[in-house]
Amino acid sequence: MSGIVRAEMEIAVARNDPVVLQLQTDYIAEMRRHTEPYTVTRGGREYDVLPNVFPPYIDSEMIARVMHIEEGDDVLDVGSGSGFIAVNAAASAKHVVATDINPAAIETIRANAARHNVDDRLSAVQADVFPESKGAFDVVTFNPPFSDHAATDVVERSVWDPGHAAVRKFMAEIGEHLNPGGRIYISWADFADLQFFEELLGKHGMRYERIDEVTDGTSLFVAYKVTLEK
Ligand SMILES: C[S@@+](CC[C@H](N)C(=O)[O-])C[C@H]1O[C@@H](n2cnc3c(N)ncnc32)[C@H](O)[C@@H]1O
Repeated sequence: MSGIVRAEMEIAVARNDPVVLQLQTDYIAEMRRHTEPYTVTRGGREYDVLPNVFPPYIDSEMIARVMHIEEGDDVLDVGSGSGFIAVNAAASAKHVVATDINPAAIETIRANAARHNVDDRLSAVQADVFPESKGAFDVVTFNPPFSDHAATDVVERSVWDPGHAAVRKFMAEIGEHLNPGGRIYISWADFADLQFFEELLGKHGMRYERIDEVTDGTSLFVAYKVTLEK
């Protein structure tokens, strides 16, 4: 049975799965446990991670693997965390803007841009989903917080997005930030209901295809390529 079929069969029980909730709680505790910057290795390279910042995971790696970036592309990485996706995009792109609501993430993105020698073409800005500056992008990437769950601070908002506010804002406003013919690479997870997510894409008139999936043994993460043309 393919992972996607398994995920669809499990949707009814997967939402707010207590096992996933415990794993997310542990991930948040791990983000808070560090008092000093540390490094993680992901995709064969080292990244700096400041305390209270989401360390790149297999879903981050999946998006970095599937995104197609051309030399002249302007890229936006929404909710960039450590900057893992943004730094990988900057290896090919003309320029990358990375946003995050977490100020510690902004510092981490800048550290990783410098570590990987792409700081001349990667800017990090603290923003709620989209940067305030005008200008559109050829490629937009987003590995979002998946779960509709209350969050007390920006650390918890790494994995919990109350009311799916960030994802709903992304869907509602992406049209203002994507150049004609532009492409979006975004992930979703089975425990947050793939059917809900695909219906949301559909409600916004988006065309989507599942282009990859990865599992950590508990959860299935799916990568989508999305375009706005009918
Ligand atoms: C699952 S983490 C992914 C981080 C990184 N993109 C990666 O793949 O490793 C989600 C990120 O989105 C950020 N975030 C959550 N809500 C946001 C919002 N409303 N605007 C901008 N960033 C947000 C979090 O701070 C966190 O860094």
